This record gives sequence, structure tokens and C-alpha cells, in this order.
Amino acid sequence: MPLVCLTDFQAYAQEHLSKSTWDFIEGGADECFTRDDNMAAFKKIRLRPRYLRDVQEVDTRTTVQGEEITAPIGIAPTGFHCLVWPDGEMSTARAAQAAGVCYVTSTYASCPLEDIAATAPRGLKWFQLYMQPDRQLNKQLVQRAESLGFRALVITVDAPKIGNRRRDFRNQLNLKMNLLLKDLRSPKEIDALTEVVAAVKGKMEVYLDGGIRTGNDVLKALALGAKCVFLGRPVLWGLAYKGEHGVEEVLNLIKNEFHTSMTLTGCRSVAEINQDLVQFSRL
Ligand SMILES: Cc1cc2nc3c(=O)[nH]c(=O)nc-3n(C[C@H](O)[C@H](O)[C@H](O)COP(=O)(O)O)c2cc1C
Repeated sequence: MPLVCLTDFQAYAQEHLSKSTWDFIEGGADECFTRDDNMAAFKKIRLRPRYLRDVQEVDTRTTVQGEEITAPIGIAPTGFHCLVWPDGEMSTARAAQAAGVCYVTSTYASCPLEDIAATAPRGLKWFQLYMQPDRQLNKQLVQRAESLGFRALVITVDAPKIGNRRRDFRNQLNLKMNLLLKDLRSPKEIDALTEVVAAVKGKMEVYLDGGIRTGNDVLKALALGAKCVFLGRPVLWGLAYKGEHGVEEVLNLIKNEFHTSMTLTGCRSVAEINQDLVQFSRL
């Protein structure tokens, strides 16, 4: 049966991954409220489409930090891709390059940064950093990423300590890394987006991740002021399905959904997406 939406990839991954890998991907901290709230928040937002516009040509392209991408959808940092597919992040990087989107590589990548950069030399790549107490180590990591062509640094500031990942504790999952700070909560809900957008007053680009599962979610995030959104778990589901080609399928599927969402709401370009598309009375 063809996989026609991102949750189909989720079901496939659940069926085919080992229990401990599945739990690692899917689990959140404690009772996983934030993970679940992120998805529920998108469902509550209602769109207000515009009709009778010429939508024969709809262009999903945009830019992040001045670099063109094929759609405002990127890959959020997640660690340990080799748990899911043999050449892990190398597959992910090639898929991102083929799809023309930005790939944020995690501090906890399970392939060397050199290999990731070499396998997708034309792809737009940013490097995510968990700040280490050892400043020298931070400096070395950043310089290494910069010399390999990673174009921006994404500093994760919400993880001073690992969250209570109950499933991993039960499975006694022990990922062997020298770096110890790790927290996989995702408290970047869409609810906070409007506040952040208002606070930065257009002085910087605002991105969102957490709970993006459909093209409509992408449209809603952009309508509320995000410049681009990033996918975490869905990319791992794609990787579990068919490695590089599975990730590409996930990216293309949500890009196509986003194209449809733009068309059905009367947006011909990403620049035309604004908050008029959201029914605030229903928020
Ligand atoms: C398995 C897993 C590993 C993650 N690893 C990292 C990481 O290394 N660095 C980081 O900043 N965030 C990490 N995150 C958080 C993701 O970047 C993202 O915020 C989160 O998955 C929410 O997006 P989603 O709902 O699309 O999965 C991880 C999340 C998961 C599920």
C-alpha cells in the first residue's frame, strides 16, 4: 500500500524498527505532554481561504538566511540516525540536498561531520550545537563545522539537563557518547510563535519546529509569522522506511501538501502568506 501522509511513515517505522529505537524516536520527556500539545495546537487553528485568485502558478520557494530553498520546510536536528538506517546522517544529508531544503545536523550525529559534508556538498547545512562546559570543545566543534561548509550555527538552549525519558530508561538505552548534555523535549509550540514574532519586530527570521505533520501545518506556521519550519520525527520515519529515498519521499510529500494548501487558500507565493489566513476568533 502506498504511504500517502506522514503518519503512514510513522506506522511503517513503528512496525519495522526495534522497540528500543522506536521508543527513542517517539518518546518525549515525562508524560510527553509537550509532544502531544504541539500537534493538537495545529489542529485547533482554522484557516480562512481566499477564492477566485489565479493559482495556476504557485511557487513554494523562499529563503533562509539569504539562501534559497525549494519550500519553507527543513530538517530539525535529531541525533543518532545510524540507529535507524546504516549510513544514518549521510542518507539524510543526500535527501535534503536532492529536495533542496536545509538540513540542521545534530551535535549527536552518528556519522562524522566530514562524511556528511562530503556526501552532500551542494546541500544547505547548518550545525546544531549543545553548548558544552568545555569552551575549547565548543570552539573546536564550531570551527570544524564552519570549515566543512556548515553555513549557520543553531544553538540549543532548552536542554541544560536530560529530560525524564521514561521509555529510554525502561529500555536501558545507553547511547555511547562523550558529550553528556541531552534533552529531547520540544517546547517550541506554535502557541509561542506569535509572541516571539511580535517581540523580534521583523529584525530576525523566526523558525518553528515541533508537531509539523501536514502541509496545512506549514501554512499555518507561516501565516503566524514563521519564515520556515523544521521536521524532526517524520524525517526519522522516512529514514526507517527507505533511507535516503524514504527521507526524500517524506520531504516531497509534505512539500506537495504545502503546495496544495497554498493553492486552496489562494496564495501564489510564500510572500502572500500572512495572518489574514488565520481565523483568530477560533484560536
Ligand atoms: C529522536 C530525537 C532526537 C533529537 N535530537 C536532537 C538533537 O540532537 N538536538 C536538538 O537540538 N534537538 C533534538 N531533538 C529535537 C528536535 O530537533 C525537534 O525539536 C523535535 O523532534 C520536535 O519536532 P517533531 O515534532 O517534528 O519531532 C530530537 C528529537 C528527537 C525525537
